[in-house]
Amino acid sequence: MTISAPGTDRRVFHPAVLDLGDVVLRPWGRALDVPGGIVPALVAAAADPAVLRWTPLSASGPVDAEAYLDRCETRWAEGSAAPFAVIDAVDGSLCGNVYLGWTNRDDGVAMVGYWLLPPARGRGLATRATTAVTRWAVEHADVRRIELYHAVGNEASCRVAERAGFPYEGTLRASYTYGGDLYVDEHLHARLASDPFTE
Ligand SMILES: CC(C)(COP(=O)(O)OP(=O)(O)OC[C@H]1O[C@@H](n2cnc3c(N)ncnc32)[C@H](O)[C@@H]1OP(=O)(O)O)[C@@H](O)C(=O)NCCC(=O)NCCS
Repeated sequence: MTISAPGTDRRVFHPAVLDLGDVVLRPWGRALDVPGGIVPALVAAAADPAVLRWTPLSASGPVDAEAYLDRCETRWAEGSAAPFAVIDAVDGSLCGNVYLGWTNRDDGVAMVGYWLLPPARGRGLATRATTAVTRWAVEHADVRRIELYHAVGNEASCRVAERAGFPYEGTLRASYTYGGDLYVDEHLHARLASDPFTE
């Protein structure tokens, strides 16, 4: 397959709000308004056992959480990543995260990751939110290929990847450490901008 390289001028993520009906995806930053405050909400999210085990989110206290929010704001300002908080449309509470960022901007290659808090799990929300961010990135930032990595043992994430239209491409050996000293194998999934959206 041959796809032309259109240059990097369109390859900028501009802040956006994506309305999915039951949830709204908003840019991560200090201005996010959630009940109880965004910093405590982020610290609580980072302490969830599944988020701790399967994601690189590091916010073990308010200082870390504020640094995370500042990094997100910087990346939006640079156009180098699109970190979205998933917010409940009814009560405004934090439900989760979808992060999409360039890994090779010149080649149009990005990666996507996600987490949800326990009350938001089990209803297909990660699939819908990931699909929405993917479609937005393809339509607005000229993303050519989006990669998705998950630890081999993370079966829920593997299902989300498949259902969001990221077919399995291979297994990477000892490719990433999710915290401790141990490097784990990961699945690589990916979708191309030319892959059709089914929802
Ligand atoms: C992974 C995660 C985002 C999934 O989000 P979700 O919206 O709850 O996912 P869904 O409800 O659509 O479930 C996805 C699928 O995984 C299955 N699943 C859920 N938990 C599972 C588990 N512990 N083991 C195996 N399969 C599981 C569901 O049955 C569903 O299968 P289906 O497609 O056949 O219906 C969520 O579990 C989470 O935030 N986990 C912690 C953080 C994380 O792992 N992030 C991803 C890092 S790569």
